[in-house]
Amino acid sequence: MRRFHVTTFGCQMNVHDSERIKGMLEAAGMGEAPSGEEADVLVFNTCTIREKADDRLVQHLHNAKNRKATDPDLQIIVAGCWAESTRDAIFRDFPWVDAAVGPGRIGALKQVLESTDPAARGAFGSFDDFAADLPKRRERHFQAWLQLSMGCNSVCSYCIVPSVRGRERSRHPREVLAEARALAADGVTEVMLLGQNVNSYGRDLPPDERCTFAEMLRAVDAIDGISRIRFMSPHPKDMRGDVIAAMAESPAVCNQLHLPLQSGSSRVLKRMRRTYDSERFLDLVGRLREAMPDISLTTDVIVGFPGETEEDFQETLRVYDEASFDHAFTFIYSPRNGTEAAGFEDQIPDDVKHERLERLVELVQTHAARRNAALVGTVQEVLSEGPSRTDPAVCRGKTRGNKTALFTPAVPAGTTVSMVVEETTSQTLRGRVESAVPA
Ligand code: SAH
Ligand code: SF4
Ligand code: F3S
Repeated sequence: MRRFHVTTFGCQMNVHDSERIKGMLEAAGMGEAPSGEEADVLVFNTCTIREKADDRLVQHLHNAKNRKATDPDLQIIVAGCWAESTRDAIFRDFPWVDAAVGPGRIGALKQVLESTDPAARGAFGSFDDFAADLPKRRERHFQAWLQLSMGCNSVCSYCIVPSVRGRERSRHPREVLAEARALAADGVTEVMLLGQNVNSYGRDLPPDERCTFAEMLRAVDAIDGISRIRFMSPHPKDMRGDVIAAMAESPAVCNQLHLPLQSGSSRVLKRMRRTYDSERFLDLVGRLREAMPDISLTTDVIVGFPGETEEDFQETLRVYDEASFDHAFTFIYSPRNGTEAAGFEDQIPDDVKHERLERLVELVQTHAARRNAALVGTVQEVLSEGPSRTDPAVCRGKTRGNKTALFTPAVPAGTTVSMVVEETTSQTLRGRVESAVPA
């Protein structure tokens, strides 16, 4: 039996797509190898969001080439967003790659692998088939991704996603809910609703099938057995009153939100085409905290966007401080081919970008430490993910607020415990189990 190994880069869309890639390869009669070294088929599910992602992948492809020199039967497959952005040029620049599929064509994987026609080794461009129906393999028995939509209709001037993932398409609500019920029946207690712009879900559905994101939250909440609902990634512009109310009123929806800020300067936000300004963003944060006082908020911030002045950056620090986020992913702006901002004249020098990033990270750490320290002495519900990586006697899991918790005594993965928080850092909460209830 031929054995495959999948390496996944990028965001949760890709992690979920990798489950389908594995499911499809298994359906084609292959098995999973414990490591890349032992595999006959190497799959790279790629990301192209920043230049660094591209560089890292090229390194992996060169390593794979070296392996193929001693093992000519090795097959190398490239999937994902970088494949879509590069298309057939992959076979010219990396001739040792055997097959490639874009994120909209995962369903064509088997076909391109089996094709003997060199011109049919790539499948790109179409985003018609909803990959949600493909076979898939879940990593954890108690957690699952649930795809609501794919693609993105926004035009953020820095972002390559719309060009590699296509226009937004919402899945039929009946299909989504049937999958949610099947997952619950299969023992899944936590679902992550997925979409590049998840909370604009439903706008493109025909009128007789209309379902808003808020309605979808309530419908998944009503399913027996699902006790935790999260979603990724929402856009601030679509975080309307009905969504906030649905979050606050649905017991299964977690007290957590990832709300990408990108910049605190209204001038920069405008050039980014984010469609909100700093005032509206802070107003939204205020309404969220009013509806859900214990909500934990995380965000994404880009520094060094073209034309960003020291004053603009100060605005980002101010808005970050005022929003008091629990954590953040911080990025240095990376120009992407074909995006609007890559053509802006006023690119920021690297040293300025790095210096700003350092200052931002310091503020992020300060808030993270403070927000976590405020939880000492509280009791948190933690869903166990099994032993921690470094110490099998210590268990690792996530709170409803999506914070990493380390606790003793250890309980099996999938068990929910009440944990008393004893110590915290900017990254983790540590504590002991007060009581355990089987999930
Ligand atoms: N759909 C998601 C974003 C996916 S990309 C959303 O809108 O929230 C994840 C993050 O990468 C973005 O939020 C942004 O902060 C960052 N990012 C995207 N393009 C970038 C670029 N060209 N340079 C630096 N960071 C970028
Ligand atoms: Fe990119 Fe903006 Fe769409 Fe997010 S909302 S995927 S940042 S274009
Ligand atoms: Fe990367 Fe594609 Fe996700 S570019 S961030 S894997 S949508």
